[in-house]
Amino acid sequence: MKTLIIYNSIHHKNTEKIARAIGKVLKAKISKPDKVDIPSLKKYDLLGFGSGIYFSIHHESLFQLIDKLPKVKNKKAFIFTSSGSWQIKYLNDFNAPLVQKLENKGYDIIGTFCCRGYDTVGPLKHIGGLNKGRPNKEDIRKAENFAENIKMVMKALLIG
Ligand SMILES: Cc1cc2nc3c(=O)[nH]c(=O)nc-3n(C[C@H](O)[C@H](O)[C@H](O)COP(=O)(O)O)c2cc1C
Repeated sequence: MKTLIIYNSIHHKNTEKIARAIGKVLKAKISKPDKVDIPSLKKYDLLGFGSGIYFSIHHESLFQLIDKLPKVKNKKAFIFTSSGSWQIKYLNDFNAPLVQKLENKGYDIIGTFCCRGYDTVGPLKHIGGLNKGRPNKEDIRKAENFAENIKMVMKALLIG
């Protein structure tokens, strides 16, 4: 199974840690959005998209890249993120806009992963930031478990 993970991680490289943990389990290639060679995406069975959350949404570079992607049929993708605050389903679903964007291009989202990340934005830096040390070992273990589950789903779909 060929997997490409596309991520951006501009604040403290929190999401980069998650991208690497998931990437290791899936033996994925990892790339930044601006380095993606769009025609070569055809050769991947699975794409992962992730970034920190900035003003309630994934990094704009992911959306800009997806705008340029051709429509696909039944191609599998997953999404991951790290954020300063909690995600509460139906209240502040950080993944929803990216899920929607990818679904509009024909991607089938087979999983989403979120964890907390060190956050020193704005006034938070004066109080030492939020979530110091995160993603921590436990977050990385959860990201690895998520990747194992993704692997199982792909196997069940006879793609893995
Ligand atoms: C400009 C900016 C805006 C942010 N906005 C939010 C936000 O709306 N909600 C949230 O939960 N975290 C927010 N954060 C915190 C980041 O999502 C969090 O620190 C994340 O782990 C950063 O990931 P990164 O190190 O991969 O960039 C913001 C951070 C920055 C720098």
